[in-house]
Amino acid sequence: MDLKSLIRDIPDFPKPGILFRDITTLLRDPEGLRFTIDSLTEKCAQFSPDYIVGMESRGFIFGAPLAYKLGAGFIPVRKRGKLPAAVHAIEYELEYGMDRLEVHQDALLPGSRVLIVDDLMATGGTASATAELVQQTGCTLVGFGFIIELRDLNGRQRLPDAPIVTLVEY
Ligand code: PRP
Ligand code: HPA
Repeated sequence: MDLKSLIRDIPDFPKPGILFRDITTLLRDPEGLRFTIDSLTEKCAQFSPDYIVGMESRGFIFGAPLAYKLGAGFIPVRKRGKLPAAVHAIEYELEYGMDRLEVHQDALLPGSRVLIVDDLMATGGTASATAELVQQTGCTLVGFGFIIELRDLNGRQRLPDAPIVTLVEY
């Protein structure tokens, strides 16, 4: 299936000069959605993760069904101030300024196998910050799964050494 044909390009969003890859058109297509989850499952099964870690908010959309399909648990990484119990936190750089990602301290148990999942890798800032959070807790990072990779931004270079699965590249 041609997933690119279901991803919509929106010029100048959220800022002039950025060509935004919009996955909402893929999500609303029943066959496209099913194919996406099934393909991700097929490519990520080799990692045998105990947990999928997905980043707010689009990482939740793909991470939770992947966890279900692989028989793994799902752990949300959220932006600042959203999680109710004690958290591990990491500051990370956005295009303008800094933000903070958090995960519950009792969610990531040392020794467990963790696969990080998000919809898209751009600069790799979000994924590399999440990887640091995961590794700080003594978990084994078994890989990354993304629907989309924007290759020109060289996000891969910022990620630690672990296998990367992507379905669509621009
Ligand atoms: C987007 C996307 C990734 C991240 C990729 O999320 O879903 O998480 O940016 O960019 P990077 O590789 O340069 O870090 P965003 O922060 O826009 O949040 P959202 O999922 O809530 O829209
Ligand atoms: N599309 C969608 N999400 C994004 C993009 C993009 O081009 N860049 C960073 N997050």
